[in-house]
Amino acid sequence: MIKRRIWVAVLAMMCMFASGCGNDDMIVLTPYGDAIIQNEGSSTGTRTTAASPAGRTSDGNGAATAGEQETAGTEDGSDPSGLIRVGFAQVGAESGWRLAQTQSMKETFTEENGYLFDFVDCNNNQKTQLQALERFVEEGVRYIILDPIVEDGYEDALRKAQDAGIPVIIVDRNISADASLYACWVGSDFAREGRDAAQWLAAYLRENGRESEDVNILTILGSDGASATTGRTEGFEEIAKAQGNWNLVDRQTGDFSKDGGYAVMKAYLDKYDDIDVAVCQNDDEAFGAVEAIKEAGRTCGPKGDIIIISFDATAAGFQAMIDGDINVDIECNPLEGPFVAELIRKMEKGETVEEIQYMEEGVFPAEEAADVLPARAY
Ligand code: AHR
Repeated sequence: MIKRRIWVAVLAMMCMFASGCGNDDMIVLTPYGDAIIQNEGSSTGTRTTAASPAGRTSDGNGAATAGEQETAGTEDGSDPSGLIRVGFAQVGAESGWRLAQTQSMKETFTEENGYLFDFVDCNNNQKTQLQALERFVEEGVRYIILDPIVEDGYEDALRKAQDAGIPVIIVDRNISADASLYACWVGSDFAREGRDAAQWLAAYLRENGRESEDVNILTILGSDGASATTGRTEGFEEIAKAQGNWNLVDRQTGDFSKDGGYAVMKAYLDKYDDIDVAVCQNDDEAFGAVEAIKEAGRTCGPKGDIIIISFDATAAGFQAMIDGDINVDIECNPLEGPFVAELIRKMEKGETVEEIQYMEEGVFPAEEAADVLPARAY
């Protein structure tokens, strides 16, 4: 932990001296509430978005019945109470990570902090999410936060928000729509998470004298079409394919859920005799996979037969490492609320906002879990 803090401080200083933190800089957000500036060399740029809440009215149509919805607002983006009305189209409630992200948003966008928060749980249904976006536009919220369930299919909805002068902030996952259609994005570098997982595995096999063995790897994918799934898969496979002796045996979706992880792992155990590694694309899938492995009389974790790699690094994921079930957890930081609020604060003042901001994330092997867990925020 201390080592990581020193690294973050050094990187921040290097960025400031080397780059002057100009237009190509990205803000990297830590799970502890601080931020550093990172220069990727790529031209991501920044953008000034002035919020222009017009006095819009609702025609009563739209997604009033879509998903689980908690509405606290008037029909006007410039609320008479002076509160800023923010609509959040959330993916769903499929995982512990997702609940932590929802909590971060709800704790941030409170009336005490000056917001009317309109939260919609879209239940992992893109149609529901598009209806929610439509309603936000019709009712004239001042800002829209969108966590896209899948990458494609948001162009029309974003264009409507843009035409209505409502800035859209994308969080967590990526979309394929042109960046000119939304104000900014805050989230995770999923391909890097995938590469981190594979690099950890390569080092682990080396440390255990297994680097020249054939390694059979089975992946439990996240939800189809989600950038968290495609990014983690591409990142992991990029490193895996360069190894020569890693066999990517199978990959099936577990839908980022415990039940999905259990079902896929059970099917793998029935079908394949020789499984060295199970890559579970989130903690919930890993919990289900571990259950299936134990039920089948097999073992996993640092002292078991099957190496379990997981993503998210929730408190429950840390506990599973402490319990000896998971070998490593690749962090995905869900605490985006305060950073989105800071973007809104800037946009309210007509200031320039960062177009792309990556959350700061680490790699946590089982042997560090007990020391690190007490300081975790989710
Ligand atoms: O998009 C982030 C992913 O979605 C998290 O890894 C997973 O737990 C969630 O459901």
